[in-house]
Amino acid sequence: MQKKTLSDISLQGKRVLMRVDFNVPLDEARNITDDKRIIEALPSIRKVVESGGRLILMSHLGRPKGKVNPEFSLAPAARRLSELLEIPVAIAKDCIGNEVMQQVLALQDGDVLMLENLRFHPQEEANDPDFAKELASLGEVYVNDAFGTAHRAHASTEGITHYVQTAVAGYLIEKELQYLGNALDHAVRPFVAILGGSKISGKIDVLEQLFNKVDTVLVGGAMVFTFFKAQGMPVGNSLVENEKLDLALSLLEQAKAKGVRLILPSDVVVASEISADAPARVEPVSGISEGMIGLDIGPDTIDTYMKEILGAKTVLWNGPMGVFEIDQFARGTFSVARALADTTATGAVTIIGGGDSAAAIAKAGLASKVTHVSTGGGASLEFLEGKELPGIAALNDLA
Ligand code: 3PG
Repeated sequence: MQKKTLSDISLQGKRVLMRVDFNVPLDEARNITDDKRIIEALPSIRKVVESGGRLILMSHLGRPKGKVNPEFSLAPAARRLSELLEIPVAIAKDCIGNEVMQQVLALQDGDVLMLENLRFHPQEEANDPDFAKELASLGEVYVNDAFGTAHRAHASTEGITHYVQTAVAGYLIEKELQYLGNALDHAVRPFVAILGGSKISGKIDVLEQLFNKVDTVLVGGAMVFTFFKAQGMPVGNSLVENEKLDLALSLLEQAKAKGVRLILPSDVVVASEISADAPARVEPVSGISEGMIGLDIGPDTIDTYMKEILGAKTVLWNGPMGVFEIDQFARGTFSVARALADTTATGAVTIIGGGDSAAAIAKAGLASKVTHVSTGGGASLEFLEGKELPGIAALNDLA
């Protein structure tokens, strides 16, 4: 990695201002339903605490649109962190202002203070310089470990770096770049990418990048129907991006020209509506009936995809194969998850590119059986597209 990290700076007695991504899912009772992002931030947090730093954590949670809204308070995250660290974690009432500054100045070595949601202030997402400066004044050194938010140029991720001397990466950012970066640039072959999701439009750049890196792309999710319609095949009522038909054909051509095997499903699970009770059946992709919607890959496709995954040495997965939130359309996605776990057990490197596929592998109970599950949704996608992540680009370069 080209950036300085927590290991390159001294922490003892310092006010360490750390941006984390504690944008965690909450249920109606405001219980955290998945604490992965908090767990993954622990190595950096522990490093500061154990080195005698005075830790000030800041994060956003949800999209409160610049207004104070207790539904989006970071208090549940502070409580969970306290349980995990087994030390008190105080929560401030705000993220800037006099009272917060007094709390920060009262911190002792090894203490942890969590600031309230940055997005209660519209200046955070606007990357307002005065707001960034005020945040910066809380710490003596700045650490960014919020990989999930690294694609946002916000006050706490990018703006702040203009007002601190020391701005380094935390261990989670280091780990994410190591796994995602190595997968792309130093992959052991065969390298298979599995790409799913509903729209081609959200995956064009990532597909084009992957064509330069992988041997095979397995495609699933509703985006396959745009490829099928472009080739003149029947798609029933399946989701199609009619304005992307030419693009779909050009992607097929590009894959061919680059010697990449782009594999589309041979059969799909269809139903007349997206519902748990709608009668579902398997149809070959050459004969999808009128009125039916394709909602998962079918059993023949699952067989083909599993063989490809089991034969790979590096696998990158982004995007579900079907509507996995509904059991009868979940088999394709969970079979891919299972195949990733199995191929990992035989020595392959398997990377899940965050977002929905991370949720799917967690739901399948297999998250611990793959090499790396990214904490970034949008951030990992942008990284895979080859884009610069502003929250990382702004950090101090290694000398
Ligand atoms: C995420 O969950 O992808 C990050 O926390 C960023 O959140 P955002 O999409 O609301 O900026």
